Amino acid sequence: ERQKNDRIYYDINRQAGRYFYDNLVQGRNLAQDYLIKRGLTVKAIKSFGLGYALDGWDYLLNYLIKKGYTKEDIEKSGLIVKSKQKDSYYDRFRKRIMFPIFDVRGNVIAFGGRVLDDALPKYLNSPETKYFNKSEILYGLHIARKNAINGQGILVEGYMDVIALHQQGLKNTVATLGTSLTQGHAVTLKKYFNEIVICFDGDSAGIKATLRSIEILQNVHIDIKVLTLPNNMDPDDFIKKKGKDAFEKKIKEALNFIDYKIYIAQQKYSSKSLEDQIKLGKAVANILKDIKSPIEQETYLKNIEEKIGISKDAIIAEMYGRKVSMN
Ligand code: GTP
Ligand code: MN
Ligand code: MN
Ligand code: MN
Ligand code: MN
Repeated sequence: ERQKNDRIYYDINRQAGRYFYDNLVQGRNLAQDYLIKRGLTVKAIKSFGLGYALDGWDYLLNYLIKKGYTKEDIEKSGLIVKSKQKDSYYDRFRKRIMFPIFDVRGNVIAFGGRVLDDALPKYLNSPETKYFNKSEILYGLHIARKNAINGQGILVEGYMDVIALHQQGLKNTVATLGTSLTQGHAVTLKKYFNEIVICFDGDSAGIKATLRSIEILQNVHIDIKVLTLPNNMDPDDFIKKKGKDAFEKKIKEALNFIDYKIYIAQQKYSSKSLEDQIKLGKAVANILKDIKSPIEQETYLKNIEEKIGISKDAIIAEMYGRKVSMN
């Protein structure tokens, strides 16, 4: 019985994916124009199985009923919603670009749907089920897990970022689904990669998410690098505007996470005021305290003296809560 339910869930989602895909590729339509305008290739559209949910209340519902599924089973798959007043159902996704969400084995387990304009919400996801847990799934992982580049994986924020990078050959890219990175994500990443390059949007939300993700990834002992983008850009914008070579150069120049944290502290406390200088010194002491290797720590300390003009001794004293002797 349980196995049968599993199979029906996967079947319904797969059939829906096929239906959305057919809508997208059969004849010219708004969704096609939209994706082409955003620079997606036909090959990328195919390999991610993108699709189009038409503008209507029951297209998918009727399609799946015709295929022989019951309304109850379709509702469990998350694709239709039961109306509160009447005893009727309607399609959850309407007039949206559809992104099938795959588990690691490549089964479709959910969808993300994007509006074609500025309407809200921009993205809508299938509800969580026992098969679809947003805090465990990484978008693109079913492809990326076989495409680590020298053990390296790239972590981005969005669906479009994943597709844009894969399309340019960076098939080691994955994204969380608009949620912050969890311990579960980190454990999964560690399974397939030795090093993660975090490459979030270059806005303040992206910086905050980067700092949080560093803490979580540290728990699983994976190497962490950070690629920073200009303030108003995400990886998709960047690679489209500057090209693959520029993006790969950025990967090579990605900072290790200690350097990144120092860089962020320097930006935050950037004035020459005494107050900022003190805050910067304290922030740096806090960052360096976490370095386990004495040699690494010493190297950073030497470097810091030159970089921010605070003496090594003062930082060490701050790190261990001691007073610097005045003799
Ligand atoms: P584009 O605007 O199409 O380029 O998408 P984006 O990926 O750049 O979007 P953004 O940076 O705003 O958000 C990053 C990711 O967060 C998206 O890919 C989604 O997974 C998720 N997200 C964004 N907006 C929403 C929303 O309104 N609802 C939900 N559930 N997720 C969202
Ligand atoms: Mn964003
Ligand atoms: Mn984007
Ligand atoms: Mn973005
Ligand atoms: Mn955005």
